[in-house]
Amino acid sequence: MSVKVALVTGGVAGIGEAIALGLADDGYKVVVCDINQERGQAVEERNPGKLVFRKCNVADEESVQALVRGVVEEFGRIDVLVNNAGIIRRRHSEEISVADWDIVFTVNVRGAFLLCKYVAEVMKQQGTGRIVNISSVAAKLGDITSAPGYGPSKAAMDGLTKTFARELAPYGITVNGVAPHAIETDMSAQWSPERRAAIIDAIPLKRLGQPQDVAACVRFLVSEGAGFITGEIIDVNGGFLMD
Ligand SMILES: NC(=O)c1ccc[n+]([C@@H]2O[C@H](COP(=O)([O-])OP(=O)(O)OC[C@H]3O[C@@H](n4cnc5c(N)ncnc54)[C@H](O)[C@@H]3O)[C@@H](O)[C@H]2O)c1
Repeated sequence: MSVKVALVTGGVAGIGEAIALGLADDGYKVVVCDINQERGQAVEERNPGKLVFRKCNVADEESVQALVRGVVEEFGRIDVLVNNAGIIRRRHSEEISVADWDIVFTVNVRGAFLLCKYVAEVMKQQGTGRIVNISSVAAKLGDITSAPGYGPSKAAMDGLTKTFARELAPYGITVNGVAPHAIETDMSAQWSPERRAAIIDAIPLKRLGQPQDVAACVRFLVSEGAGFITGEIIDVNGGFLMD
């Protein structure tokens, strides 16, 4: 069989880059896409020969269609899709603009929907595929960092995960989620030192997560051994939420 191909959205830094590198180590040809061209070029330079960057705005239907078409033309198939691109807008609900609230849903939910929709067409023809959506502990708890669009958008993403899991199961495609909390990336770098200390204190394992902690879970979910798991959201949170 030809080399397996993985597509990781928002894969140019942080959690996405760690997932992409983990999948490359597992033998996948990995395409990372992102809206940020500069970071995309930098990730290719940091990881020569390992990752291929393609620019894409996941919230834009034409951009997603062009990406999926391009990956299939160039590499022949898509075995793994990881919907990792995501944004957060931190403002209390009385301060956040409706436009800012909307953009969080547009990127986090519409983006994941568009990728699932168009990549599923490819996976259905193959009769195989794995999709992993990167959610958040905020899906279950509501957002704990004053971002009124973020938690609800991740809850919607979990609903999307289960919906696609049911729809695609007859085609041999699994769809799962990973819900991290407090992972050390650019997103968490926005925390003040006091908030950072408080967050670590509330985690039973007494440390922040690393992007590789999330990548390890994704690598498991796309492995042979996870073939009977679908519609599941796995927490990667150091014990912060045990439910
Ligand atoms: N860092 C954490 O503690 C944490 C916790 C829970 C969940 N998450 C989730 O993990 C994922 C990755 O987070 P991260 O911390 O690595 O964030 P990050 O900000 O470092 O990376 C997100 C990437 O998504 C890209 N992106 C944003 N909008 C896009 C768009 N419209 N099209 C394409 N790409 C776009 C950004 O350019 C960026 O490279 C996100 O979905 C986030 O919600 C992170």
